[in-house]
Amino acid sequence: MPADTFNEEYEALRNMVEKNLASCLPGRSKLAEAMRYSLLAGGKRIRPVLALKFAEAVGGSAQKALPAALAVELFHTYTLVHDDLPSMDNDSLRRGKPTNHVVYGEGLATLAGDALQAEAFRILLASDLPAETLVQMGNVLAKAAGADGVCLGQALDMDSEGKRLTLEEITTVHHLKTSTLLAAACQLGVLAGGGTSAQRIAAERYATALGLAFQIRDDMLDATGETARLGKPAGSDETNGKTTFVTLYGLDQCRTLVREMTGKAVDALRGYFENTGFFEALAIYLEERKY
Ligand code: IPE
Ligand code: IPE
Ligand code: MG
Ligand code: MG
Ligand code: MG
Repeated sequence: MPADTFNEEYEALRNMVEKNLASCLPGRSKLAEAMRYSLLAGGKRIRPVLALKFAEAVGGSAQKALPAALAVELFHTYTLVHDDLPSMDNDSLRRGKPTNHVVYGEGLATLAGDALQAEAFRILLASDLPAETLVQMGNVLAKAAGADGVCLGQALDMDSEGKRLTLEEITTVHHLKTSTLLAAACQLGVLAGGGTSAQRIAAERYATALGLAFQIRDDMLDATGETARLGKPAGSDETNGKTTFVTLYGLDQCRTLVREMTGKAVDALRGYFENTGFFEALAIYLEERKY
Protein backbone atom coordinates (compact mmCIF):
# COMPACT_ATOMS: atom_id res chain seq x y z
CA MET A 1 0.00 0.00 0.00
CA PRO A 2 1.48 3.41 -0.94
CA ALA A 3 2.45 5.55 2.07
CA ASP A 4 -0.07 8.27 1.12
CA THR A 5 -2.98 5.85 1.05
CA PHE A 6 -1.88 4.39 4.38
CA ASN A 7 -1.59 7.85 5.94
CA GLU A 8 -5.06 8.82 4.71
CA GLU A 9 -6.65 5.62 6.01
CA TYR A 10 -4.83 5.87 9.33
CA GLU A 11 -5.87 9.50 9.78
CA ALA A 12 -9.52 8.72 8.99
CA LEU A 13 -9.62 5.98 11.62
CA ARG A 14 -7.67 8.04 14.13
CA ASN A 15 -10.16 10.89 13.67
CA MET A 16 -13.04 8.53 14.28
CA VAL A 17 -11.37 7.49 17.55
CA GLU A 18 -10.50 11.04 18.56
CA LYS A 19 -14.03 12.36 17.96
CA ASN A 20 -15.65 9.63 20.03
CA LEU A 21 -13.14 9.52 22.88
CA ALA A 22 -14.12 13.03 23.89
CA SER A 23 -17.66 12.00 24.76
CA CYS A 24 -17.24 8.47 26.09
CA LEU A 25 -16.48 9.36 29.71
CA PRO A 26 -19.18 10.35 32.18
CA GLY A 27 -19.02 12.87 35.00
CA ARG A 28 -17.80 16.36 35.82
CA SER A 29 -15.85 15.46 38.94
CA LYS A 30 -12.18 16.20 39.52
CA LEU A 31 -11.60 12.48 38.96
CA ALA A 32 -13.32 12.65 35.55
CA GLU A 33 -11.22 15.72 34.73
CA ALA A 34 -8.04 13.82 35.58
CA MET A 35 -9.14 10.89 33.40
CA ARG A 36 -9.90 13.17 30.45
CA TYR A 37 -6.63 15.03 30.93
CA SER A 38 -4.55 11.99 29.99
CA LEU A 39 -7.03 10.41 27.60
CA LEU A 40 -7.45 13.49 25.44
CA ALA A 41 -3.79 14.52 25.44
CA GLY A 42 -3.18 12.96 22.05
CA GLY A 43 -1.18 9.83 21.38
CA LYS A 44 -0.80 7.80 18.25
CA ARG A 45 -4.00 5.79 18.86
CA ILE A 46 -2.39 2.71 17.35
CA ARG A 47 -4.37 0.19 19.36
CA PRO A 48 -7.85 1.51 18.55
CA VAL A 49 -6.90 1.96 14.88
CA LEU A 50 -5.83 -1.70 14.82
CA ALA A 51 -9.13 -2.79 16.37
CA LEU A 52 -11.15 -0.83 13.80
CA LYS A 53 -9.09 -2.01 10.85
CA PHE A 54 -9.20 -5.68 11.86
CA ALA A 55 -12.98 -5.47 12.10
CA GLU A 56 -13.03 -4.19 8.51
CA ALA A 57 -10.44 -6.74 7.38
CA VAL A 58 -12.74 -9.63 8.33
CA GLY A 59 -15.68 -8.06 6.50
CA GLY A 60 -17.31 -6.27 9.44
CA SER A 61 -17.78 -2.57 10.04
CA ALA A 62 -15.51 -0.25 11.95
CA GLN A 63 -18.62 1.21 13.59
CA LYS A 64 -19.41 -2.09 15.34
CA ALA A 65 -15.88 -2.23 16.70
CA LEU A 66 -15.84 1.39 17.86
CA PRO A 67 -16.69 0.72 21.55
CA ALA A 68 -13.99 -1.95 21.70
CA ALA A 69 -11.52 0.42 20.08
CA LEU A 70 -12.32 3.19 22.57
CA ALA A 71 -12.10 0.69 25.42
CA VAL A 72 -8.60 -0.34 24.39
CA GLU A 73 -7.45 3.28 24.30
CA LEU A 74 -8.91 3.95 27.75
CA PHE A 75 -7.17 0.86 28.99
CA HIS A 76 -3.86 1.85 27.39
CA THR A 77 -4.11 5.34 28.91
CA TYR A 78 -4.59 3.80 32.34
CA THR A 79 -1.37 1.80 31.88
CA LEU A 80 0.49 5.00 30.94
CA VAL A 81 -0.83 6.95 33.95
CA HIS A 82 0.27 4.19 36.32
CA ASP A 83 3.55 3.57 34.46
CA ASP A 84 4.54 7.20 35.06
CA LEU A 85 3.80 7.21 38.81
CA PRO A 86 6.67 8.00 41.21
CA SER A 87 6.50 4.41 42.47
CA MET A 88 6.97 3.10 38.93
CA ASP A 89 8.96 4.96 36.23
CA ASN A 90 8.66 8.31 38.00
CA ASP A 91 8.29 10.36 34.82
CA SER A 92 6.99 13.89 34.63
CA LEU A 93 6.09 14.26 30.93
CA ARG A 94 3.62 12.23 28.87
CA ARG A 95 2.08 12.97 25.51
CA GLY A 96 3.80 16.34 25.64
CA LYS A 97 2.17 17.38 28.90
CA PRO A 98 3.02 17.10 32.60
CA THR A 99 2.09 13.61 33.79
CA ASN A 100 -1.20 12.98 35.54
CA HIS A 101 0.26 12.78 39.04
CA VAL A 102 2.24 15.99 38.52
CA VAL A 103 -1.02 17.84 37.84
CA TYR A 104 -3.50 15.98 40.05
CA GLY A 105 -1.34 14.37 42.72
CA GLU A 106 -0.42 10.74 43.16
CA GLY A 107 -3.63 9.62 44.84
CA LEU A 108 -6.00 10.99 42.23
CA ALA A 109 -3.74 9.86 39.37
CA THR A 110 -3.85 6.32 40.75
CA LEU A 111 -7.64 6.49 40.93
CA ALA A 112 -7.88 8.02 37.46
CA GLY A 113 -5.96 5.00 36.16
CA ASP A 114 -8.20 2.60 38.08
CA ALA A 115 -11.34 4.27 36.78
CA LEU A 116 -10.06 4.36 33.19
CA GLN A 117 -9.60 0.61 33.41
CA ALA A 118 -13.10 0.04 34.80
CA GLU A 119 -14.68 2.38 32.23
CA ALA A 120 -12.87 0.49 29.49
CA PHE A 121 -14.74 -2.67 30.44
CA ARG A 122 -18.03 -0.78 30.76
CA ILE A 123 -17.69 0.70 27.28
CA LEU A 124 -16.59 -2.60 25.76
CA LEU A 125 -19.56 -4.44 27.27
CA ALA A 126 -21.97 -1.81 25.92
CA SER A 127 -21.05 -2.81 22.32
CA ASP A 128 -24.00 -3.57 20.08
CA LEU A 129 -22.99 -7.22 19.60
CA PRO A 130 -24.38 -10.64 20.60
CA ALA A 131 -23.94 -11.52 24.28
CA GLU A 132 -21.71 -14.47 23.39
CA THR A 133 -19.33 -12.20 21.49
CA LEU A 134 -19.28 -9.75 24.41
CA VAL A 135 -18.26 -12.51 26.79
CA GLN A 136 -15.41 -13.47 24.48
CA MET A 137 -14.33 -9.86 24.15
CA GLY A 138 -14.47 -9.24 27.90
CA ASN A 139 -12.26 -12.28 28.38
CA VAL A 140 -9.73 -11.11 25.81
CA LEU A 141 -9.30 -7.74 27.50
CA ALA A 142 -9.27 -9.16 31.04
CA LYS A 143 -6.62 -11.72 30.10
CA ALA A 144 -4.45 -9.08 28.48
CA ALA A 145 -4.86 -6.85 31.52
CA GLY A 146 -4.33 -9.12 34.45
CA ALA A 147 -2.09 -11.43 36.38
CA ASP A 148 -0.69 -13.04 33.22
CA GLY A 149 -0.81 -9.89 31.11
CA VAL A 150 0.16 -6.23 31.34
CA CYS A 151 0.24 -6.17 35.16
CA LEU A 152 2.63 -9.11 35.28
CA GLY A 153 4.78 -7.50 32.57
CA GLN A 154 4.94 -4.26 34.55
CA ALA A 155 5.72 -6.15 37.77
CA LEU A 156 8.58 -8.03 36.10
CA ASP A 157 9.77 -4.78 34.53
CA MET A 158 9.93 -3.12 37.95
CA ASP A 159 11.66 -6.12 39.43
CA SER A 160 14.29 -6.00 36.70
CA GLU A 161 15.57 -2.55 37.66
CA GLY A 162 19.30 -2.64 38.29
CA LYS A 163 19.58 -6.26 37.11
CA ARG A 164 20.84 -7.69 33.85
CA LEU A 165 18.15 -9.82 32.22
CA THR A 166 18.69 -12.63 29.74
CA LEU A 167 17.26 -12.41 26.23
CA GLU A 168 14.50 -14.78 27.22
CA GLU A 169 13.59 -12.73 30.29
CA ILE A 170 13.52 -9.37 28.51
CA THR A 171 11.49 -10.87 25.67
CA THR A 172 8.94 -12.10 28.22
CA VAL A 173 8.73 -8.66 29.86
CA HIS A 174 8.25 -6.90 26.51
CA HIS A 175 5.73 -9.46 25.42
CA LEU A 176 3.64 -9.16 28.57
CA LYS A 177 3.75 -5.41 29.07
CA THR A 178 3.32 -4.37 25.44
CA SER A 179 2.38 -7.12 22.98
CA THR A 180 -0.53 -8.46 25.00
CA LEU A 181 -2.56 -5.25 24.72
CA LEU A 182 -1.78 -4.82 21.03
CA ALA A 183 -2.82 -8.43 20.53
CA ALA A 184 -6.02 -7.83 22.48
CA ALA A 185 -6.83 -4.81 20.28
CA CYS A 186 -6.43 -6.87 17.11
CA GLN A 187 -8.45 -9.78 18.47
CA LEU A 188 -11.25 -7.49 19.63
CA GLY A 189 -11.44 -6.12 16.10
CA VAL A 190 -11.67 -9.62 14.62
CA LEU A 191 -14.35 -10.60 17.14
CA ALA A 192 -16.41 -7.43 16.62
CA GLY A 193 -16.19 -7.91 12.86
CA GLY A 194 -17.33 -11.53 13.04
CA GLY A 195 -14.05 -13.09 11.86
CA THR A 196 -13.04 -16.74 12.19
CA SER A 197 -10.93 -18.18 14.97
CA ALA A 198 -8.11 -18.79 12.46
CA GLN A 199 -8.19 -15.07 11.66
CA ARG A 200 -8.13 -14.27 15.36
CA ILE A 201 -5.05 -16.41 15.89
CA ALA A 202 -3.33 -14.86 12.87
CA ALA A 203 -4.12 -11.36 14.17
CA GLU A 204 -2.73 -12.30 17.58
CA ARG A 205 0.50 -13.57 15.98
CA TYR A 206 0.81 -10.38 13.96
CA ALA A 207 0.40 -8.23 17.07
CA THR A 208 2.74 -10.33 19.19
CA ALA A 209 5.62 -9.83 16.76
CA LEU A 210 4.58 -6.22 16.11
CA GLY A 211 4.51 -5.56 19.86
CA LEU A 212 8.04 -6.84 20.34
CA ALA A 213 9.25 -4.65 17.47
CA PHE A 214 7.26 -1.76 18.94
CA GLN A 215 8.78 -2.04 22.41
CA ILE A 216 12.33 -2.47 21.05
CA ARG A 217 11.77 0.68 18.98
CA ASP A 218 10.43 2.39 22.12
CA ASP A 219 13.61 1.43 23.98
CA MET A 220 15.74 2.74 21.09
CA LEU A 221 13.85 6.04 21.11
CA ASP A 222 14.23 6.29 24.88
CA ALA A 223 18.01 5.95 24.41
CA THR A 224 18.40 8.22 21.38
CA GLY A 225 15.31 10.40 20.97
CA GLU A 226 14.62 13.95 22.03
CA THR A 227 12.23 14.63 24.87
CA ALA A 228 10.42 17.39 22.93
CA ARG A 229 9.77 15.08 19.97
CA LEU A 230 8.90 12.04 22.08
CA GLY A 231 6.54 13.94 24.34
CA LYS A 232 7.98 11.88 27.22
CA PRO A 233 11.39 12.02 28.90
CA ALA A 234 14.24 10.56 26.87
CA GLY A 235 16.71 8.64 29.01
CA SER A 236 14.08 7.40 31.46
CA ASP A 237 15.23 3.78 31.10
CA GLU A 238 18.83 4.61 31.95
CA THR A 239 17.75 6.72 34.93
CA ASN A 240 15.72 3.79 36.21
CA GLY A 241 18.44 1.20 35.54
CA LYS A 242 16.26 -0.85 33.19
CA THR A 243 17.55 -3.69 31.10
CA THR A 244 16.33 -3.05 27.57
CA PHE A 245 17.16 -4.51 24.18
CA VAL A 246 19.41 -1.48 23.71
CA THR A 247 21.46 -2.19 26.84
CA LEU A 248 21.75 -5.87 25.88
CA TYR A 249 22.44 -5.56 22.16
CA GLY A 250 23.18 -1.97 21.18
CA LEU A 251 21.36 0.09 18.60
CA ASP A 252 22.55 -1.62 15.42
CA GLN A 253 21.43 -5.05 16.49
CA CYS A 254 18.16 -3.57 17.71
CA ARG A 255 17.53 -2.17 14.24
CA THR A 256 18.03 -5.65 12.78
CA LEU A 257 15.76 -7.20 15.40
CA VAL A 258 13.01 -4.67 14.76
CA ARG A 259 13.22 -5.43 11.03
CA GLU A 260 13.07 -9.17 11.68
CA MET A 261 10.05 -8.85 13.99
CA THR A 262 8.29 -6.54 11.54
CA GLY A 263 8.76 -9.16 8.80
CA LYS A 264 7.48 -11.86 11.12
CA ALA A 265 4.41 -9.78 11.94
CA VAL A 266 3.54 -9.26 8.30
CA ASP A 267 4.08 -12.96 7.47
CA ALA A 268 1.64 -14.00 10.19
CA LEU A 269 -1.30 -12.50 8.30
CA ARG A 270 -0.63 -14.09 4.91
CA GLY A 271 -3.33 -16.48 3.81
CA TYR A 272 -5.85 -15.38 6.42
CA PHE A 273 -6.91 -11.97 5.15
CA GLU A 274 -7.68 -10.85 1.61
CA ASN A 275 -5.96 -7.54 1.99
CA THR A 276 -3.01 -7.07 4.31
CA GLY A 277 -1.65 -3.85 2.77
CA PHE A 278 -2.70 -1.58 5.63
CA PHE A 279 -1.21 -3.86 8.29
CA GLU A 280 2.08 -4.13 6.37
CA ALA A 281 2.26 -0.37 5.98
CA LEU A 282 1.46 0.11 9.67
CA ALA A 283 4.26 -2.25 10.68
CA ILE A 284 6.71 -0.32 8.50
CA TYR A 285 5.47 3.01 9.86
CA LEU A 286 6.09 1.75 13.40
CA GLU A 287 9.54 0.46 12.48
CA GLU A 288 10.55 3.90 11.31
CA ARG A 289 8.68 6.02 13.85
CA LYS A 290 10.42 8.86 15.62
CA TYR A 291 8.03 9.11 18.58
C1 IPE B 1 3.72 3.83 24.94
O1 IPE B 1 2.77 3.50 23.99
C2 IPE B 1 3.87 2.70 25.91
C3 IPE B 1 4.48 1.50 25.32
C4 IPE B 1 3.86 0.38 25.30
C5 IPE B 1 5.82 1.57 24.80
P1 IPE B 1 2.54 4.41 22.70
O2 IPE B 1 3.86 4.70 22.05
O3 IPE B 1 1.50 3.79 21.86
O4 IPE B 1 2.00 5.77 23.36
P2 IPE B 1 0.94 6.82 22.81
O5 IPE B 1 -0.40 6.20 22.99
O6 IPE B 1 1.25 7.10 21.36
O7 IPE B 1 1.12 8.02 23.69
C1 IPE C 1 5.52 0.69 29.47
O1 IPE C 1 6.78 0.59 28.90
C2 IPE C 1 4.50 -0.18 28.90
C3 IPE C 1 3.21 0.08 29.55
C4 IPE C 1 2.77 1.29 29.84
C5 IPE C 1 2.39 -1.04 29.90
P1 IPE C 1 7.66 1.91 29.06
O2 IPE C 1 7.79 2.30 30.48
O3 IPE C 1 8.88 1.75 28.25
O4 IPE C 1 6.69 2.97 28.32
P2 IPE C 1 7.04 4.50 28.17
O5 IPE C 1 8.37 4.58 27.47
O6 IPE C 1 7.07 5.10 29.53
O7 IPE C 1 5.94 5.03 27.29
MG1 MG D 1 7.68 1.38 32.33
MG1 MG E 1 7.65 4.30 31.29
MG1 MG F 1 9.81 3.26 27.12
